[in-house]
Amino acid sequence: MNSSTRLPPLHCSKLPLCLSIQAALCCLSDALSAAAIDSPQQEASLLLQHVTGLTREALLSSLSTRPTADSLAHASRLLERRLRGEPLQYVLAEAWFYGRRFAVDARVLIPRPETELLVEVARTLSEGMPRLEGTLRLADIGTGSGALALTLAEEIPGCRVAACDASQPALDVARANCGSFPAGKRVQLVRCNLGAPFARVFGGVLANLPYVRSADIPLLSGEVRDHEPVFALDGGCDGLSTIRRLVADAPRLLLPEGWLLLEVGFGQADEVAGLLSSSHCWKDVQAIPDLAGIPRIVRGRRCETAG
Ligand SMILES: C[S@@+](CC[C@H](N)C(=O)[O-])C[C@H]1O[C@@H](n2cnc3c(N)ncnc32)[C@H](O)[C@@H]1O
Repeated sequence: MNSSTRLPPLHCSKLPLCLSIQAALCCLSDALSAAAIDSPQQEASLLLQHVTGLTREALLSSLSTRPTADSLAHASRLLERRLRGEPLQYVLAEAWFYGRRFAVDARVLIPRPETELLVEVARTLSEGMPRLEGTLRLADIGTGSGALALTLAEEIPGCRVAACDASQPALDVARANCGSFPAGKRVQLVRCNLGAPFARVFGGVLANLPYVRSADIPLLSGEVRDHEPVFALDGGCDGLSTIRRLVADAPRLLLPEGWLLLEVGFGQADEVAGLLSSSHCWKDVQAIPDLAGIPRIVRGRRCETAG
């Protein structure tokens, strides 16, 4: 190894400013690996792609070239944040959801792959959802980054989506994301408690609300506990306090025969399905498993006579 590719000490997050791409990848990967971060090589590549603007393929085909000193200094700053335990998506200011890129930062929960199942189920049911004056209206309650609302608007032609959140900082992120997608014009951002301002307009109400039990918050991984907004996670004493309120209010929001689709946490599906089944407002109640076989979504259809 010549002097330009000599690695810095593993604990060091400052990259020398004259490294080749290959040497920078090694340094980044070693530092991430020393911090016991999973997939250090993949993360090293993502960090370097981010600061150079190169695709993975372009990066790998120009290993001997030198990024600018500015790019390497930028990579050092991002690495430092990552080594302090900040999630990679916040460090890169982006997260992928259903094949699309969304801006994220510490004001919003990072959209999770399991939430993509809500999109799948909504797409499947959308044909049979009731319309208001010919238009399918959906609600995403607790929209966070807006990833779910925008994906629904992109995937279900012509639908209108009310993206509701009680957090103004989260809605500011969602607003920025709306500007990045053509279907953003069909997404209405609303600051409110659950779906409070609406009445009987939606063909579908979807929600990934907080569902972690308050007592379990300290047990979450440091990346989640110390960086993601606690308001987006904390579901109260048994994890279901916000979901329970929405279940009680949803018949007021939905048109007859409209669908309620709720993402739930591990081990919560039976209880949430029970909440719906025990009320005369709901029919066709079912828990739907994710790819790992874990019941993830509880769905129920508003009876004609409810509310
Ligand atoms: C688990 S996060 C989900 C964010 C996003 N839907 C996603 O799947 O990535 C829950 C969101 O619900 C919002 N929230 C919590 N309580 C709420 C309430 N009572 N009314 C409206 N939004 C609420 C939080 O601000 C947060 O953005």
